[in-house]
Amino acid sequence: MRTIPTAVTPNALLAEDTSRSAYRDYADDAQPGMARVREFYRNNHAHQTYAFVQEKKARWLRFDQREMTPWQGLDFLNTLVDESDPDIELPQISHLLQTAEAIRADGHPDWFVLTGFIHDLGKVLCLFGEPQWAVVGDTFPVGCRFSDKVVYPEFFALNPDSGDARYNSECGVYQPGCGLANVHLSWGHDEYLYQLLRPHLPEPALYMMRYHSFYAWHREGQYGHLLDATDQANLEWVRRFNPYDLYSKNENPPSLAALKPYYEDLMAKYLPASLKF
Ligand SMILES: [Fe+2]
Ligand SMILES: [Fe+2]
Repeated sequence: MRTIPTAVTPNALLAEDTSRSAYRDYADDAQPGMARVREFYRNNHAHQTYAFVQEKKARWLRFDQREMTPWQGLDFLNTLVDESDPDIELPQISHLLQTAEAIRADGHPDWFVLTGFIHDLGKVLCLFGEPQWAVVGDTFPVGCRFSDKVVYPEFFALNPDSGDARYNSECGVYQPGCGLANVHLSWGHDEYLYQLLRPHLPEPALYMMRYHSFYAWHREGQYGHLLDATDQANLEWVRRFNPYDLYSKNENPPSLAALKPYYEDLMAKYLPASLKF
């Protein structure tokens, strides 16, 4: 098994590895792992510039790494050991299966269940050599003023864009109401997976994938000046997805072997036989 080189616990992952009560308690520096979380976000906020995001999109959205079936993609992702996950050492696929099963248990549509099952598949970027701070963690818009509601906003002082006049008004390079589809977020697994699967899933599913780490929007209610009507309509779906991502982890995971036929059928219903990553 391959491990991610840097040991960090960005909040989407913190959520997946700690108790519900401890989740997102950034104020408590005594909490185990918080030094790593800070170091993660120091790197993330220092390097995720507007130019960096354009560079990463040009690099990874060529999808020239390898061709796999969706299931092979999950098996490949499963070779990743997330060092940020000290408390419950579950394989990636167990988090996905638990998320999906919790969604299914609540009677949601099958595309919602499928979304739960594949929502972190974009983390294969780590296996393609990306540092973790460019794959996971909270996302935020680049190209406009950073919100102080993004986690660890003090680290944006290290970001060269903070001193660039083009990117420091409320809308920056964007137009008011332009819609999130026209806004570049910090680079990571959300956008990569969205671009990989955009022809294949309904709009709410794509919103869940694309913005599940955009806490400053779906939790903090920031960036309203950039939204369009489609974003407003889909925000509720992104919010609905979030608790399943955060709180469905437990020590007694459902059996993948028993559920594999169901998920294979589900993937066959919506996804092509092979995907170019
Ligand atoms: Fe994620
Ligand atoms: Fe997740």
